[in-house]
Order: sequence, then structure tokens, then C-alpha cells
Amino acid sequence: MRKLVISTGGGDAPGLNAVIYAVVKAAHSRGWEVYGSRCGYLGLLDPDEIVRLSPEKVADITPTGGTILGSTNKGNPFALPVQNLAGEYQIRDVSDRVMENFTRMGFYCHVAVGGDGSLSIAHKFAEKGMRVIGVPKTIDNDLEATVQTFGFDTAITTATEALDKLHSTAKSHDRVMVVEVMGRESGWIALNSGIAGGADAILIPEIPFDIAKVCEKIGDNELHDKHYAIIVVAEGAKPKDGTVIHKGQGEIGREEVVLGGMGEWVAQEIQKRTQKDTRSLVLGHLQRGGAPTTFDRLLALRFGAAAVRLVEAGTFDHMVALASPGMKAVPLADAIRARKKVRPDDDKVLTAREIGVTFGD
Ligand code: F6P
Repeated sequence: MRKLVISTGGGDAPGLNAVIYAVVKAAHSRGWEVYGSRCGYLGLLDPDEIVRLSPEKVADITPTGGTILGSTNKGNPFALPVQNLAGEYQIRDVSDRVMENFTRMGFYCHVAVGGDGSLSIAHKFAEKGMRVIGVPKTIDNDLEATVQTFGFDTAITTATEALDKLHSTAKSHDRVMVVEVMGRESGWIALNSGIAGGADAILIPEIPFDIAKVCEKIGDNELHDKHYAIIVVAEGAKPKDGTVIHKGQGEIGREEVVLGGMGEWVAQEIQKRTQKDTRSLVLGHLQRGGAPTTFDRLLALRFGAAAVRLVEAGTFDHMVALASPGMKAVPLADAIRARKKVRPDDDKVLTAREIGVTFGD
């Protein structure tokens, strides 16, 4: 009998519960037990935060959003913010405690579900001797090693539905609507939802934009008797002569800055330069919420089952990845090395340009 422990780390994504379901069921069918570590590594630091995941316990979680285990993006055991007696935070390496607890609780393998950050931490534990399997999660779809991550399809479905709704109000008021979507270093959400949702301009981190070009497109719309426009802006987009806009570090222990504000900046510039009524909105965490689409559910279930197959095969320090039509195992060291970026010759970029969308370049 083997005992597996599963954790979900980083920003949540629709489909996390489907991965948990598949891991529990696939392990159970082999006579193994599964435990969940709450909020990333919290359970491996404090045994009270470990929960037994029986098939009964996970029976109805597949279609639900979020994660039944909870998640965090400031729980890196190699650099954990810990409060001292004076109430000040100090960054500590508590990874040895995690290793000791992992062994003491009799776990055979850790299934780490996460994005770039969580998978990097998982790889560091593998280097310390922990048996680890990674499962790729992120709504941004920015991991090079897998054709797609789960959560992305749900995010682009939400964003596309929002764009669809904005057309009628933009048209009624002859307005420009600027929609900021997630996407820190990769513009996949903006690109996919922008094309499907009929955007006039899509601004992404990979293609720095010239705001004058965006305004030209709005003027061009006018010439063609279209008096409104929809502009999709990835949160990590930047002007050719500028930088990303962020709100600082956010919570203590968080490793990335909190992005946000580029949509509003673009809206103000458009209003100033074109005198057209312009409004901006931020879709934000709506993109991470709600039930996973059928595609994400299925992908998440396949990832979970494939992860248990890797445990059985003893292929540790690897991540399961979609390599259509099947699954493959990628060494974690390779999986965390490269971010999947939108290439200028990507078929979707070409398609967008051919149907009249500008990238502001
Ligand atoms: O990486 C996923 C992501 O959703 C990013 O697109 C976004 O910048 C970030 O997480 C937001 O994180 P938080 O939940 O801390 O606001």
C-alpha cells in the first residue's frame, strides 16, 4: 500500500478539483491511499492540515471550481515569511521540516499541482530526495512543455462571453470599451478571447504596442461606419516606449508583483487622443472562478490519472504534459525552464491580422 499526498499551489484554476478526483480514484483502484496537504505545503509543515481524501470525500467535486484543498501564492517553504516575537516578518527556509514530515507521515510520493512557481518548488524538493510528480495548472497557459494547461479554456470562455456582451452596449453608445484580461508574460488569454470575441485590437506582452496605432484602428472603424470598438489588453502588455503597470508586491512573501492598470491607461489615452467616449473594465479573478468547461474537466482528469501512472512507473521529478493526442512525461527541470510565449508567426496572430485585428504594432 502506498500513501500519496497531493497539493494545489499558486493561483487557483478551474479543474483543480477534477485533478484531485482523478488522482484519488486512480490511486484507490491500485489499493493506494491519498492525502491532501492544505494550502500548498501547509499540511506538510503542520500535520493538522493534512486531510484524508477517500473516494467518498471527492465523489462530487469534478465539476466544481476552486480547490477543496485551498491554495496560496506565498507559501514557498524555501523562502517562507515567518513572524517573529516582535511581529516582524523574516524569510526562512523550512524545507527540511517539510522533508522530515513527509517521511514521518509515511508518504511515498507528492503530486504537486501548480504553475511555474509551484513546479519549481516541487523540483527543488525532488532534488532534496522527495518523490515528486508535477501536474501543470495555470489559466495563463504559459508553460512551454505542455500543449495546454487546464483552466485556460474556462478563462478564455469567460473572457469571450464578456466581450460578446460588451458589443451591444459599446454599439448602443458609440463607445470604445477596453477590457483588461489576465496574462502576465504571455498574451494567450487576450489573443484567444480577442479573436473569438470580435476585438478590434489585442494588446499582449509579446508585441509592445504604439497607442497611436490603436487610435488609427478606431479612426478606421469610423470610416467604415463602425462607431464603436472593443480593445482587449493583457495585464502584462506594454507600450513600445513604456513598461508594464503594477500595484507593487502585494502580500508579504508573494514572489511576483500584482499587475493591473494597463487597461485603464489605454482607455484614458484613447479618450484623450480620439475624443471618443471610452470605458475600461478589468475581468480579473472572474477568469479564475466558476466551474471548469468540459475541455478543462477532461484535461484535468486525464492529467490526474496520468500522474498516478507516472507514480506507478517510478518516473519521478517529472510533470505530466499534453502532447496531443496523448500524454507524455517531461522532466520538471525542463518544464520550468521555458515559458510559452505568443510568437509573431503564430497561426492565431496571422489569423487575427487577416481578419482586421490590430496588435498596435
Ligand atoms: O498566474 C495566474 C494569475 O491569474 C495571473 O494571470 C495574475 O497576474 C495572477 O495570477 C493574480 O494573482 P492573485 O491571485 O495573487 O491576484
